[in-house]
Amino acid sequence: MTGYFVTATGTDIGKTYVSANLLRHWRRDGLAIAALKPVMSGFDPNAIGASDAGQLLLAMDAPMDKGGLNLISPWRFAAPLSPDMAAAREGKTIPYDKLVDTCRSVAGMMPDDGRLIIEGVGGVFVPLDDRHTVMEWMKDVGIPILLVTGSYLGTISHTLAALAAMKLHGLAPHAVIINESPVSPVPIAETADVLLRHAPGTRILTLPRNAAAADIAALAAQL
Ligand SMILES: Nc1ncnc2c1ncn2[C@@H]1O[C@H](COP(=O)(O)OP(=O)(O)OP(=O)(O)O)[C@@H](O)[C@H]1O
Ligand SMILES: [Mg+2]
Repeated sequence: MTGYFVTATGTDIGKTYVSANLLRHWRRDGLAIAALKPVMSGFDPNAIGASDAGQLLLAMDAPMDKGGLNLISPWRFAAPLSPDMAAAREGKTIPYDKLVDTCRSVAGMMPDDGRLIIEGVGGVFVPLDDRHTVMEWMKDVGIPILLVTGSYLGTISHTLAALAAMKLHGLAPHAVIINESPVSPVPIAETADVLLRHAPGTRILTLPRNAAAADIAALAAQL
């Protein structure tokens, strides 16, 4: 099984975009695919299609109904807040051990040539409860990490900060994916070059805006 935990330098950077496109690509290649977006805040049950889980289900060509949602996104909350706060608004907490078990057991059920995506929430230090952040979650799930970053002004510092934080926790991404932001001050390749100089040995990949199928195929081939 090849599986990736998709995290980012922050929210709205492109985790779902990258995940959905990779899933679609692998599906078209005939591979068995699975996805989890286990924790989702800002969820509106009347607009499933607009949610991250909805977009992943669409990419997988899976039914976009409550059954599908329950499978790939068991912990859904209405408030558009960090998951700990969104859960608290509903008098709930996220059962961290169960969250990790769910991710591990789905990974364990995948066939050898299958592809699994687990999308995190926001960035690497988003709180899940009073004791755990996405960082512990990634470590406990233990599958390769894709760190999605942008190409906006400021991304180099955000990316290096995320890499340094991961290193402190004994983690390194399988790859950094620079997903082109709506506005970039320099060509994406230049951002990639500078990042590589400051984070030597890191696999740095790029994805243009409105990526074509060929761009996704190229990205998948480099993973
Ligand atoms: N390369 C791209 N080309 C065009 N649109 C993109 C690209 N990357 C992201 N977007 C769009 O930018 C918005 C934010 O991306 P996305 O939802 O993937 O971010 P995210 O990191 O998953 O956010 P969240 O933290 O809410 O899960 C979406 O509308 C998405 O379709
Ligand atoms: Mg998302």
